[in-house]
Amino acid sequence: MRVAVCVSGRGSNLEALLRSLGPDDRARIALVISNRAEAGGLEIARRHGVATAVLGNAATGDEWLQVLDANAVDFIVLAGFLRKVPAEVTARFQDRMINIHPALLPDHGGPGMYGLNVHRAVIARGDRESGATVHGVTERYDEGPILGQARVPVLPDDTPESLAARVLAVEHRLLPAAVRAAARTGRAVPFTLND
Ligand code: GAR
Repeated sequence: MRVAVCVSGRGSNLEALLRSLGPDDRARIALVISNRAEAGGLEIARRHGVATAVLGNAATGDEWLQVLDANAVDFIVLAGFLRKVPAEVTARFQDRMINIHPALLPDHGGPGMYGLNVHRAVIARGDRESGATVHGVTERYDEGPILGQARVPVLPDDTPESLAARVLAVEHRLLPAAVRAAARTGRAVPFTLND
C-alpha cells in the first residue's frame, strides 16, 4: 500500500511512522505532501529519501488529485495537516484516508481545534483524561468514524505544553498501529494499539 502523509508543520508523527514501518509491513510511505514549503516534515521526508510535494493551493482538488495519481497513492494519512481537504479528494479516498487528532474525539474537535488550542480546552474544562484519536476522514471536519484511541491522564499541574507532550508520545504509537491495520485490507479499519 503506497501511503501519502500530509503535514503542515514539525512532522514528528511522520517521523514516528517512518521509523516504525519496516520492510515486512505492507505499507510504505511513498510521498509527503504539505501546504507549506517550510514545513519541518518535508525535511524529515527528504532525510528518509521520501518524495515530497508542496501544494500551491491546498483548497482545490485538481492539484491534489494530480499529485496523488502521479505517485500512485493508495492511502492518505493526515498527520498534523491543518487545512480542510477538498471534497473531491475525500470522495475519491473514501475509506482510504485517516487523520490523527490530539484529543479524545468527539470531544475537543472541529475548526480551530489543533495544537495547543486542544490541550488548553481540555485543561479549561477540567477533564481528568485526554488522549489521541485516529478517525476516518470525511467531508466533515473531525467527524469521520473513530477507528482507534489511546488515553492519557490529565495531571493537576499540567500546562498545555506538558499535556501536549504526554499526548504526542501516544500519538507516535497510535498512528503506526492504524496504518499497519489499514495495510492488511487497503482500507481504514478499527484497530488497537497492538496492531
Ligand atoms: C499532532 O499533535 C496532531 O495530532 C495535531 O497536530 C500535531 C502535529 O504534530 N493535529 C491536529 O491538531 C489536527 N486537528 P507533528 O507535526 O509533530 O506530527
